[in-house]
Amino acid sequence: MRIAVLSETDGAETRVSATPDTVKKYKTLGADVVVQAGAGAKAGIPDADFEAAGASVAANAADALKDADVILKVRRPAEGELSGAKPGALVIAIMDPYGQDAALKALADAQVAAFSMELMPRITRAQVMDVLSSQANLAGYRAVIDATAEYGRAIPMMMTAAGTVPAARIFVMGAGVAGLQAIATARRLGAVVTATDVRPAAKEQVESLGAKFIAVEDEEFKQAETAGGYAKEMSAEYRAKQAELVASHIAKQDIVITTALIPGRPAPKLVTRAMVESMKPGSVIVDLAVERGGNCEVAVPGQVVEHNGVKIVGHLNVPGRLAATASSLYAKNLYAFVETLVNKDTKELAVKWDDELVKATCLTRDGAIVHTAFQPTA
Ligand code: NAI
Repeated sequence: MRIAVLSETDGAETRVSATPDTVKKYKTLGADVVVQAGAGAKAGIPDADFEAAGASVAANAADALKDADVILKVRRPAEGELSGAKPGALVIAIMDPYGQDAALKALADAQVAAFSMELMPRITRAQVMDVLSSQANLAGYRAVIDATAEYGRAIPMMMTAAGTVPAARIFVMGAGVAGLQAIATARRLGAVVTATDVRPAAKEQVESLGAKFIAVEDEEFKQAETAGGYAKEMSAEYRAKQAELVASHIAKQDIVITTALIPGRPAPKLVTRAMVESMKPGSVIVDLAVERGGNCEVAVPGQVVEHNGVKIVGHLNVPGRLAATASSLYAKNLYAFVETLVNKDTKELAVKWDDELVKATCLTRDGAIVHTAFQPTA
């Protein structure tokens, strides 16, 4: 069994899909690991560290993926990136499959079995493989760090001989994995933290972190969580009530962190231009949903913009801003999944195609798109 670790071709990607630690684990599983030269450079992992862990280093992608049974990446391989891959090879990455029909067809045409890690079911057995959680957790932390770096004032209350500095008010919108970590981080820094969500379960979680929960808690709110634990897209009526509540609250905030997402849908617009204009100059908004259309009307993907003295931070790939930590958690998520695909006695790949984790994540196989949610429309 041969496992290839490819470099990322997207210049904005800093993460890598394996670490020396997971290379050692793959070796124990009986695999030979080949790492493309420079794959870990942006995450602070030199080729020599991979070699010391037992991997061999290939000069380029073609050499790395030659004869590989498993190909690991962070992002979906671009068209052509897999040329020379063995038919039937497993390609495992964050595939970002929604609305990407042509890219999925290209993966099918490449004759590989492509797996999308972000489709992993959120069941106990798969928690260790949950890339959405591992990366969102870091994004939530980093959002607060980025906000405080842009904010021209201190966060905690300070009582000094020269006067008292008030604590900053931080409002977190969307209290899922990223939002809860943002709340915890903001609390650690000494901010006065409030948070909102549309799922009732979030209320207790927010309060257990010492933040105040603010939401429109009507009948629709009580039904807003899907069986999978995600939020539904809310009605226009709910959104209007929510906007009214948020408008008066946001005007008093120093920092707003938005994290609200709905799987497979554009991010809900929660912060309007008028709300931004109601905030004090020097306030900061960090929009973590910017890659999915943004929660803030004024956010620009990949930029820090200023509107009426308010800074709106729209960094892309926020987990990648903590490349080393994000890589180490992502690599562990991948290893935990790959381990389930290997027969430990024969030390060979033995994919159980009817396993629920495989069925939930496998996009393409034998030249076709096999995932029911991504069937091409006629
Ligand atoms: P997500 O990234 O899809 O969305 C982030 C947050 O935005 C969610 O809390 C969502 O309710 C909220 N949101 C959506 N629309 C909103 C709106 N209009 N206004 C305000 N907030 C809005 O969600 P994430 O972080 O992936 O978490 C989803 C759920 O999955 C949570 O209940 C979480 O606790 C759960 N979970 C379960 C795991 C497990 O293994 N059992 C692992 C990780 C998360």
